[in-house]
Amino acid sequence: MREKVISIVQSYGKNSGRLMDILLSVQSEFGCVSEEAVSLIASELGISEVDVNQTKTFYHFFTTNRVGKYAIYMNNSVVSEMMGMAEVVDELEKQTGVKFGQTTPDGLVSLHFTACIGMSDQEPAALINSVVFTQLNRDKVRKLISDMREGKPVESMFSEYGDGVNANPLVKSMVKNNIRKAGPVTLGEYAVGTSLGKALGMDPNAVIDEVKNSGLRGRGGAGFPTGLKWMFCSKEAGEKYVMCNADEGEPGTFKDRVLLTERANMLFEGMTIAGWAIGAKEGVLYLRFEYKYLKAYLESVLADMRTKNLLGNNILGKGFNYDIRIQFGAGAYVCGEESALIESSEGKRGEPRNRPPFPVQKGYNAKPTVINNVETFCSVVKIVEQGSAWYKAMGTEESAGTKLLSISGDCEKPGVYEIAWGMTLNEMLAMVGATDVQAVQVAGPSGSCIPPSQFGRKIAIEDLATGGSMIVIGKKRDLLKDVVMNFMRFFEDESCGSCVTCRSFNMILTKQIEKVVAGTAIRTDIDNMKAWSQIIRKTSRCGLGQTSSNPITTTIENFRELYEARTKDVAYQSDFDMNKAVADSCKVVGRVPNVHHE
Ligand SMILES: Cc1cc2nc3c(=O)[nH]c(=O)nc-3n(C[C@H](O)[C@H](O)[C@H](O)COP(=O)(O)O)c2cc1C
Ligand code: SF4
Repeated sequence: MREKVISIVQSYGKNSGRLMDILLSVQSEFGCVSEEAVSLIASELGISEVDVNQTKTFYHFFTTNRVGKYAIYMNNSVVSEMMGMAEVVDELEKQTGVKFGQTTPDGLVSLHFTACIGMSDQEPAALINSVVFTQLNRDKVRKLISDMREGKPVESMFSEYGDGVNANPLVKSMVKNNIRKAGPVTLGEYAVGTSLGKALGMDPNAVIDEVKNSGLRGRGGAGFPTGLKWMFCSKEAGEKYVMCNADEGEPGTFKDRVLLTERANMLFEGMTIAGWAIGAKEGVLYLRFEYKYLKAYLESVLADMRTKNLLGNNILGKGFNYDIRIQFGAGAYVCGEESALIESSEGKRGEPRNRPPFPVQKGYNAKPTVINNVETFCSVVKIVEQGSAWYKAMGTEESAGTKLLSISGDCEKPGVYEIAWGMTLNEMLAMVGATDVQAVQVAGPSGSCIPPSQFGRKIAIEDLATGGSMIVIGKKRDLLKDVVMNFMRFFEDESCGSCVTCRSFNMILTKQIEKVVAGTAIRTDIDNMKAWSQIIRKTSRCGLGQTSSNPITTTIENFRELYEARTKDVAYQSDFDMNKAVADSCKVVGRVPNVHHE
């Protein structure tokens, strides 16, 4: 082990900035990062064990104890639960004889839960040794465990299902892409290399102007104008970076996964155009660990682009040098927040930074950095190809162009849809074959729970903004138990813990919604939940804490009768003035504005 760990550290140039890659390699080689490995890594990197442990303990996929030869990570997101996760969990425990969180005594199988793995259109799904298994049921579980007992390699198991093997031989999984509506921008026709050639023939400032004029706004959820972000960064001096946010951790979203599989060339081309526009030499694709099964394919696309001189030195003979590397995360929703993503890429805990300075001023390796979502970079390619006027003519006044939606839940046709901004929820529900709808969860847990009376509202940054997640919730669901409780447990798990209120009040809110569901809460609890929500929102450093109470506040606002039906209308007497407490706590904590939620 000693020699192997040392050689892994050396393969990353003994660079502590690559600690994530080192830990990932050790975890994959030994099924854990043991205390002995931590101490070896620390001494080889010349840093303290505390530094290594800090990073190691932050991420879900690093373990101190060895995981099973087959490590099953069952997705416990809302949609997985809605689609029958409980049966799959029950069968897994029956077949293995161990509970979740445990490993079989022979070390063959370990069972773990994990948050959304980007497969909401084909749940219940699980990762087994980083290979995705979808639409699981009792029969499939029985077959899987029996295959494991025979020692079959994971890659050979999914292909035996025959019904969902991905057509791309380098994408080893049974994931289907379910593209239900291919629109004109990200999923339409596209000639590889054309836009990059065109951009390199333009002055970098003219490229930025074209993006600005198109009205493109970030597709990761915050909707910040892309051209403006690029312009700010281009004005900074010295070395710069381009980073692509492919963390896609918001439960219910999976459209970036589809772009990464179907439009990897387009994404890398968009990142290269950004590099030209701002004057960067290196791009980093921050890819969530849950998408590791795409690694071989994405590396092959990058290699092919280098062969075609679309990456590397003197790209297309225009004297521009630029390349892209892939940086994996290791399981942490908060790393989708751009400054946490930078910290993680530097080998640290994914804790969001205070701002200013913003990433465009001081980002990756303390250099000016542009960070955009996968879909944003893809959209840029079409804007350069077809022109800003063509793009701006689609969508609404404030939300130009098209948007990819990841639609899942209680509907006939879950999948990815490219729509022009401005479509109403009613139109969307008709498009996906959804009837008897109780609510639509727009923008994932951090978004809003919208009731039927508001289904006439528009999907647009100025009305119902979304990074793409749309979960349809049918009337048969118990909204508070099946949805809100799951969302709050998710936020409780995913808070990075830096802010007192985010760390502790999300836990309190979770306990509180559990009380409501159990029927032991009283009416006053409803108002207290609103008050605590306000405190978290106002005193949290990043977008996670500023939105984590949304599942509670938007359902209290739009579905109050569900809370009233489950709470006792009894008097509560106390001298404690909650409103004053809220006002006081918001006064003492200096809140730092966040780009994501501007
Ligand atoms: C908790 C949290 C998670 C986020 N997750 C993602 C994500 O998975 N993908 C993404 O593109 N943006 C995510 N964002 C938004 C990013 O911080 C940032 O705004 C975005 O990457 C910028 O790219 P864009 O302008 O192209 O949207 C997240 C923000 C927060 C607060
Ligand atoms: S709001 Fe929550 S996730 Fe964000 S920095 Fe604070 S503790 Fe971490």
